[in-house]
Parts: sequence; C-alpha cells; structure tokens
Amino acid sequence: MKVPQPNAAMLQQLDADGRLQHLINLEGLPRALIERLLNRAQQFIRPLGAPPARSSALAGVTVANLFGEPSTRTRGSFELAARRLGADVINLEVHLSSRSKGETILDTVYTLQSMQIDVLVMREAESGVPGYVARHVAPHVSVLSAGESHLSHPTQGLLDALTIRQCKGGFQKLSVAIVGDVAHSRVARSTFQALNALGVGAVRIVAPPALMPGPEEFSGCERLHSLEQGIRGVDVIMMLRIQKERMSESTVPVGANYFREFGLTYERLRLAKPDAIVMHPGPMNRGVEIDSEIADGPQSVIQQQVTNGVAVRMAVLEAVTEGLRRDWNRA
Ligand code: NCD
Repeated sequence: MKVPQPNAAMLQQLDADGRLQHLINLEGLPRALIERLLNRAQQFIRPLGAPPARSSALAGVTVANLFGEPSTRTRGSFELAARRLGADVINLEVHLSSRSKGETILDTVYTLQSMQIDVLVMREAESGVPGYVARHVAPHVSVLSAGESHLSHPTQGLLDALTIRQCKGGFQKLSVAIVGDVAHSRVARSTFQALNALGVGAVRIVAPPALMPGPEEFSGCERLHSLEQGIRGVDVIMMLRIQKERMSESTVPVGANYFREFGLTYERLRLAKPDAIVMHPGPMNRGVEIDSEIADGPQSVIQQQVTNGVAVRMAVLEAVTEGLRRDWNRA
C-alpha cells in the first residue's frame, strides 16, 4: 500500500512502501506512523527490576553508533535497544575515529558500510549532516539521528510523547510548557513536532528573550518571558538545560541569576496543575534550571523518560529494519 508523501522530509525518510527508512526529523511524519512507534515502544516496557524485553528480531543486523557530541542517555539506550533485539553493535567516538585525522564523514560512513553495517545512528554538532549521509548511504542502510545540532532529536521527541501519553492518557486536552533555552534545543523542536502531530491542546514556550527562538519557529505556541506566567495551570512542564556549547561565552547566562528567574522550584511548581508532571531530557544542571527537590520529587518523570528511551529506540530500530529483514527472509 502506498502512503501519500506530502513533503520532502517524508520523501527522504519513508521508502516507496511508506515504511520508515531513515529517522532524521519528525517534521511531516504521519501521525499514524508516530502512533505505531509509540504503541510498539509501549510493548517493550517492563517494570524496573524485571528482566528487560528482549527478542531476536534484529539477529544478523549490525548497528553502528557514531557520536560526535557527548551523550549518556541517548547513546546508552541506542546500544541497549540494539543489543536487546539481538543486533551486533559497534560504537565509535568521532574524536577517537579517523575523522579526527581528516577523514570525511562520507569516507567514514563508506568504511562502516563495507563492514556490513545496516543501521547508522549518528549524533552531529553540524546541521544537515544526518540528512546528507542518509542521501548517500546504500539503499539497504538506515540513518537514525541521535541529535543534530540545535535542530532535531527525533527519538527524544518520541520518548517525550510516550511519557506524556503514559502519564496523561492522551494529548488533546493538554497544556504543555517548554521552559528554558528553547532557542538552542533540538529536544524542544522534536518534542514540539511530536506533540503537534499527535494533536496536543496547547504548547507554551517560556524563555528569557535571549533564549527564545525566532518567530518563524514553534508556530501556534504562546510565548512567555516569565516562568510564573508560563507554567500557570499547565499539565506538563518540560525543563531544558542551557546549551552553553551552542553559545559564545559572553552570552551564557550566569547560573545563579538564571535560577532566580527561571529555575523550577517547589513554590513555582504549585502554579501548575496539582497533578502536573515535570520532565527534563537530561543532562540536568541542578540549581540552574531545576531545584533538586523537584528533580527528585513526586511530580518528576525524568527517570521514566529514560526508561522510555530504550523502548522507543527498540521500536525505531525494529521499524527501520523491517524491509531489510523481509528481503533477507525472501532470499
Ligand atoms: C539532550 C541533547 O543531547 O540534545 N540530551 C539528550 O539527548 N537526552 C539535551 C541536552 O543536551 O541538554
């Protein structure tokens, strides 16, 4: 069955049968596809302390993690997701690979391809690189973005959506506040795209003027410069780290000053709905954007987000290798 392909982002990410081949950006992905991924991820969730979900769905598949920026959660969960599905996995740090000796990204990718890599998971500081690589890999290879500059972090968007769905049951009636350094946050962009696709009620972005994205982005969002106003009455608060690495030193806000105005404290949290949840993609800077009392408190779902990250990445890995595995079974 052919799925209509309304825009370029989709053309590049879906194969001729409408199956997910690459995941670079959530923009333009059909709601049904996003829902299918969330539903599948939900099936991989197990209680903490129980054995994690496993299968041999990816037996024979090889996944390479190529990370050009620091990562704890994303990299660890992509690796665990691949291994728990039975894939072979290699991990390469860009600063320790031959790219640091001047090798181009495509030469690195072709080298990996020659080792029969089927899925390339990549985190890149430079905009456009994951899409560029996806256009140059062999037809059976899938490229998954694990974070691209300030632009996109699609699996984080999906795991945030899954967490909200688990806690709130749906999206339609929800009011969500995304708070902090929205301007430099790929998480904010991808989570906003996921929530939009899923029909969220309302999204507010809350940031000091210097960290507010331009008016051409986050369309339809209310924009507020006050944390108190921004989180009043909301169901979901998503806190963000200040992305120092994407700013010049002179523009980085001073932590203590920032906390005074934009830090989420217990008093401020009381302005949101009493059952509001607090999210954070990690890494957190305690005492800068969030108080420890909140990070470790009963309304925090930050660890649940991490658990969901493994499940979502399992669902995505399974989806992008579906065609490949079908071809192998036919051969
Ligand atoms: C984020 C990232 O790398 O974009 N972390 C993550 O993947 N969970 C957020 C951040 O670095 O602040």
